[in-house]
Amino acid sequence: MTSFHHPRRPLVVGIGGTTRAASSTERALGFALRGAEAAGARTRLFGGTFLHSLPHYAPEHSERTDEQLELIEAVRHADALIIATPGYHGGVSGLVKNALDTLEELRADERPYLDGRAVGCIVTAYGWQAAGSVLTSLRAIVHALRGWPTPFGAGINTLETRFDSVDTCSDAKVVDQLATVGQQAAQFALAFTAQRAPAANATNAPNSTNAAHGANQQTQPARKLHAV
Ligand SMILES: Cc1cc2nc3c(=O)[nH]c(=O)nc-3n(C[C@H](O)[C@H](O)[C@H](O)COP(=O)(O)O)c2cc1C
Repeated sequence: MTSFHHPRRPLVVGIGGTTRAASSTERALGFALRGAEAAGARTRLFGGTFLHSLPHYAPEHSERTDEQLELIEAVRHADALIIATPGYHGGVSGLVKNALDTLEELRADERPYLDGRAVGCIVTAYGWQAAGSVLTSLRAIVHALRGWPTPFGAGINTLETRFDSVDTCSDAKVVDQLATVGQQAAQFALAFTAQRAPAANATNAPNSTNAAHGANQQTQPARKLHAV
């Protein structure tokens, strides 16, 4: 595994799952987050129960719930993300998409949306067709949010692979694939923060917002943007 000098452990935020208590999507996400931890990251999971607590994102309303703000703040401070969705009717599930829509609140940040952050993508589906097509859709969403999809994304056919508990998976190859997603997200974060830290330390005042949150310095001016 490549090692990089970095000032602190990067934060990898996981978003995903379904409303089901035994969600294979959320369990798959857990495996990927453990892969990120093994690569040196801290992690935080926003699973199906949390995503279900989010109201439908309404851009015309300025009020946000505590849960919406919690998600927005976590992603704002994240160095990388891992997003896991089931394929629902050939697309990303509404539950996961609503969480991603909520990230519209990051449009005017110095790092708008998912700018400068690697995003590992995971899809579960009852078949290979949706696993592949929804993975492509999810990566297109990540691109729209200015994120960097990791080179490896995991498509899991849950007709063939079972997640009988939070830490058991019937297929060792899938476990390896999920760990790879987590490792790639963490390694990108480590490399990116290490690469940006020296220049940022030289040019930014110590009391700037970004300095308060570590090495995630931003070279672009704040802009009002919308995802494309
Ligand atoms: C509303 C709904 C729509 C679905 N649509 C598809 C689909 O289009 N293609 C597919 O392969 N699987 C489809 N599935 C199956 C889920 O993608 C699959 O069961 C997934 O692994 C569920 O994740 P979970 O275990 O985290 O709940 C659908 C399931 C539901 C409930």
